[in-house]
Formats: sequence, structure tokens, C-alpha cells
Amino acid sequence: MALWGGRFAEPTDEDLRTLNDSIGFDRRLYREDIAGSQAWARALVGAGILSQDEADQIVSGLQQVLKEFDQATFELQPGDEDIHTAVERRLTELVGPVGGKLHTGRSRNDQVATDFRLWCMGACETIGARLRDLQEALVQRATDHQVTLMPGYTHLQPAQPVVLAHWLLSFFWMLQRDRDRLVVARNNAAVLPLGSGALAGTPLAVDRHAMAQELGFTSISQNSLDSVSDRDFVAETLFALALAGVHLSRLGEDVILYSNPLFGFFALDDRYSTGSSLMPQKRNADPLELARGKSGRLIGNLSGLLATMKGLPTAYNKDLQEDKEALFDSIDALNALLPVLTAVIHTLGINPDRMRAALDEEMLATDLADYLVAQGLPFREAHHAVGAAVRAAADAGLPLSQLPLPTLQGCHALFAADAREAFDFDKSVRSRDSAGGTAPAAVAKQLEAARSALEG
Ligand code: ARG
Repeated sequence: MALWGGRFAEPTDEDLRTLNDSIGFDRRLYREDIAGSQAWARALVGAGILSQDEADQIVSGLQQVLKEFDQATFELQPGDEDIHTAVERRLTELVGPVGGKLHTGRSRNDQVATDFRLWCMGACETIGARLRDLQEALVQRATDHQVTLMPGYTHLQPAQPVVLAHWLLSFFWMLQRDRDRLVVARNNAAVLPLGSGALAGTPLAVDRHAMAQELGFTSISQNSLDSVSDRDFVAETLFALALAGVHLSRLGEDVILYSNPLFGFFALDDRYSTGSSLMPQKRNADPLELARGKSGRLIGNLSGLLATMKGLPTAYNKDLQEDKEALFDSIDALNALLPVLTAVIHTLGINPDRMRAALDEEMLATDLADYLVAQGLPFREAHHAVGAAVRAAADAGLPLSQLPLPTLQGCHALFAADAREAFDFDKSVRSRDSAGGTAPAAVAKQLEAARSALEG
């Protein structure tokens, strides 16, 4: 018989039970469910519903249930519909009828919202810490490559030279914002629903602030309808995770490209690449492809939950049970992915010679235009003149730097012999020393900022 079976003459159909039960996945909430119930039992003493002795029995009975879950000895029974009913059923077996007093003034609606908020807070912290590990790896590798030149691309076409540390740190800042978003998501989840009852509040004089404090929430919800009903904290977390996934996917895509032999900038460590069952020479970047692939799921989990929520009438509806697997799945995906990505970055083979060899003089065309600008020419005219020089070099089959001076001067009279000095990759990079630029001097400051962001 279900916990709520009183008004039913017949037991629930087996197929409906299979559809309805959430214990298969929400048992992951056992810690939070038990902590919430212990806080509720203490609050019931204050409300005059439980004697201190009864509350003590319930709290220690729940402690026993916790132990059973921790040691994987908890035995599920057929009527255990979800984690809340399973815990209460077992508690009552352990402590007797007094266990039946625990649910006074409470509903599974405020209970599940409480559990899931707590779980979400912990998950945000875990993912934040794992993102931080990856950031540390990026900082470490950047420290050693502050003057290692590589081609920078826009539209995936060669653009301007940059230093490798600059590329590495570009992902550091994306992940920094991801961590910031997770902190916000965590803090927005830290609002206690318990005491909201099924939807209308509870007649009991429970101290909601005390429960909030005991459980680690920073405040209590102000509207019982809202707090049993909304899952915006889940959506917000899923968004933060999805966007982190997008960043990891882009990191993955770059590493996949740069470790392709046509680029040859990177070589994945043997431990973090995979082979082909057929082609003996293959070395595949599977972890990065999985970063790219899993980001699709993370986005799907967010859009799935938003779609679930959008048409719901006020207060709790069973549709909301669908919130859990989405968040569990996104968290599981990132927990599996992040340690591997961190190791990929730590162990990534870097080939500075190949990166340097991939620099093409055309990538200094902007520097040549800057030369003309330094002579007082408006940039738009300089751009045009250098464009003509690039075309002339291509027509003559020459590298841009080997174009004879008269030809160069044919493109613009302001070109003189010292124009050749523009053809210096190191100088080009050194010149981009604006704050946040790729010049080693600017990158050194960026590294410092990154290190202090890690401490903050
Ligand atoms: N398993 C349910 C969920 O995850 C718990 C809340 C059930 N509430 C109810 N009124 N049926 O949403």
C-alpha cells in the first residue's frame, strides 16, 4: 500500500507504478533528504508536535537509514515510490509508529524542492572545483609558453601571430566566468522551501530560519506557491553547465585541429588519445571529441527542462519530477569529462617548431599597414596599399617580404627600405602590448591576473 493509499480501494496499476516511480534516480538525494528530515524533526519539537525524546528517536533512526544508504545495505521495497517515501518507510520500520509523526505539516512538494536545492548547491561547488583544476592546468602551461609563437586565426584563416600562453589563457577566462555563474546559481539555489507545505504553507509554528541555517541555506522562500513550483534554480544551473560545456567544446575543437598532423602543433599524450581498431597509425582525440559531443547533451538538458516548465499551472505538478535526471546527467557528464580534460592539458605535447613554421609572412600584412600609418597615412589607405602588395606578391609567386622595393613603392610611395623591418614575427607580437593583448609583457600581467583570480 502506498503512503497515500487511504482513499484508494485498489492498488496502483503496475505499469503506472513503473512510470510514476522516481526512486531509480532520486535515491541519489538520500543524504539531502535525510538531512532535511532531521531538520524538520527538530523544528517539530519547537512547534510542539514532537517531544524532544520523539525527535531524538527520529533523528537517530534517520542516522541509521543514512548509514544503510552509505554502506549500500539499504533494501528497496516495492512500495518505495521515491526517496522520500523510501526513507520514511524504513524509518518507521526502525523506530516504530513515532516515525509516522515526521511528515506532520510537511509535503513531498516542499521536501523535494528542499532536497534538490541542497543537492544542486553541492553539485555547483563540485563542478566549480573541477573547472578550477582545469584553469590551473592552463595557467601552468601558459607560464612556460609566454614567448612561444603560434598563428592566430579568425574565420580559421591565418590572421596574426600570437603567443601560445595567450591562446591557453583565453580559455582560462571563459572558465572563470563559468565558475562565477556557478557561484551565482549555487547562491540562488540556497533558499529554503521547507515549511511551504504542499502549496499553502503550514499551520505549524516551525522556525524556518533555524532550519535554513542548520541545512546551509542562506535565506527562506517568501512565497510557498513559488517555492514548491519553480525550478529556476535547476534551469540556471543547467545553463551555467551548458555554457561551460560550450567552452569546453570549443577548447576541444581547437585541440583536435591543432593536433591534426596538418597542423602538428600539439600531440596528445598516449594515455589521453585512442587508436583505431582497423587503422594501425591512428591517434584519435577522443576526449576532446567527447567534450564537443557532450556539450550537445548539456544544451539538450537545459532546453528539455525549460520546455517541461513552460506550460505548467501554478504550484507543484508531477512534470517537475523530470527535473532531476537532466541535472544528474549534466553533472555526471562534466564530472567524467573535466578530470580528463585537465590531464589532457597537463600532458599535452607542444611543438613550438611546428607552430613557428606555420607562421606565414602574410600574417604580418597588418604590421606593414601599421608601418604606413606611422608615416602618417590614414589606415584605410594603408590597408588598400598593403592589399595591393599582397596581390602583387601572389602574382609574382614571391613571399611578401621578398617583393622588390620598387614594386612595393608602386603600391604606395611611402614605402621605404626600412619597411622590411615589419617582417618580424616576434616584433609584431611584442608590439601588441595593450592591456589584454598578446605581447609577452601584457601576457605576463594577464598571467598574474589569472593567478589572483584563482586565489579569489
Ligand atoms: N518524486 C517526486 C518528484 O520528484 C516527489 C514529489 C511528489 N509530490 C507529489 N505531490 N506527488 O517531484
